[in-house]
Amino acid sequence: MSAIRSPAGDVAAPVVDADSGRTPGSRSTLPRQIGLWSAVAVLIGSTIGSGIFRSPAGIAERLPGPLPMFSVWIVGGLFALCGALTLAEIASGRPETGGIYVFIRDGWGRLPAFLFGWAELSVIRAASLGAISTTFAEYALRVLGYDPSRAPYDDWVHWVAAGAIIVTSVFNYRGAKTGSLVQNITTIAKYGGLLFIILLALAIGLPQTGGANFTPANPPGSFAVGAFGLALVSALWAFDGWADLSFVAGEVKDPRRTLPRALIIGTVLVIAIYLLANVAYLAVMSIDEIRASRLVAADVAQRLIGAPGVVFVAVTVMLSTFGTLNGTLLTGPRIFFAMADDRLFFEPVARVHPRFQSPYVAILMTAGLGVAFVMLRTFEQLADAFVTAIVPFYALGVAAIFRLRKQAGYQPPFRVPLYPIVPLLFIAASLYLLGNALLDPASRWATAGTLGMVLLGVPLYYLTVGRRGR
Ligand code: ARG
Repeated sequence: MSAIRSPAGDVAAPVVDADSGRTPGSRSTLPRQIGLWSAVAVLIGSTIGSGIFRSPAGIAERLPGPLPMFSVWIVGGLFALCGALTLAEIASGRPETGGIYVFIRDGWGRLPAFLFGWAELSVIRAASLGAISTTFAEYALRVLGYDPSRAPYDDWVHWVAAGAIIVTSVFNYRGAKTGSLVQNITTIAKYGGLLFIILLALAIGLPQTGGANFTPANPPGSFAVGAFGLALVSALWAFDGWADLSFVAGEVKDPRRTLPRALIIGTVLVIAIYLLANVAYLAVMSIDEIRASRLVAADVAQRLIGAPGVVFVAVTVMLSTFGTLNGTLLTGPRIFFAMADDRLFFEPVARVHPRFQSPYVAILMTAGLGVAFVMLRTFEQLADAFVTAIVPFYALGVAAIFRLRKQAGYQPPFRVPLYPIVPLLFIAASLYLLGNALLDPASRWATAGTLGMVLLGVPLYYLTVGRRGR
């Protein structure tokens, strides 16, 4: 295994080998530049994207009652919190670029670590780009006055979404310098925008409806265990992003202190604003209206202040999704980069652009797959494929804590509270989620297809990097 220690001080930019285009041991030369609040912004900026602005419809469809609907958001938030708390410990003990990939490699070995990279490349990143850009496209078309019921609407969504992926890839291809600036600005804009919608709904909407939409809290037939599991998949899409900070752990300043704090502060801030957003939606619209609303935040704003509200929300969502797209192309390639640096991934994917210093092959491949996915699938299909493919690896990464705690030299300054309950809860919830998605006829084949794609990585491993040995 190559050197993966990250020095605490600043180091010069990576040197690219002219022949191979690789930066050998490149991870150890990435400078530590991300402070506490930038780390919180990376987390919040990767998490708040599309989900909170549109998943409520799918959730209300499956659980058409206020209490079941809230319970799914609360359970989703607790799931993210258990995951983030466990990662806070592991990342404080192993603050290296590659995050979850490193935890899986050190806890479970090379094959599972390779499979994670394969899943990221073939499904996870592309599905994530696709789902986020679809939302960008739908809100953009809404601003332009497109009527969703008019015929070529769906084609337009696909084209605009593909365009957004291409634009953000070009940005990232040309280097990551502006990346974190875009990230900080869009994070403030999206958190502030969401807060504004919430305040508006509570100040104007709530007095009008008098809270009538909150009752009856639990209408008959609004809760079923299977439906809850499927709705949870949508909520987890919205909550996903807490792990992305771990990918850039090698670039965080004073990481043993900063990482646990940023993970906890960021996740709690996201949970708080998501729960408030749902209160705000219900303050204005009934469950049945939310169910029928593809772009719930825009409909809420339209009700409250008319056309200017729609434009405000649409611009917020466009900035929000654009920032998440950018973050997805910024953090994801670092996984492939770290892997190829370990000689655990196809070598060309590790190439660094000689002029822009960007992992351009990884970016182009991810973007190409993202465009293909976005042309063929809808938002819900993409978001579900994402969650199905990533949850097994989150569970493996979290479960690595049991192996790491037995290894010499693992001395995390932060320890997960209520050990081993917190990681075990996370793992149990992951198993329930996957089992449920495989058993439910509504999601069975899509889930099996996604997991099949991931498992294709096993023969691929033995045909390629697995043959090489260490
Ligand atoms: N939570 C985000 C959203 O609602 C999606 C996050 C995608 N995942 C990621 N690791 N970037 O749009």
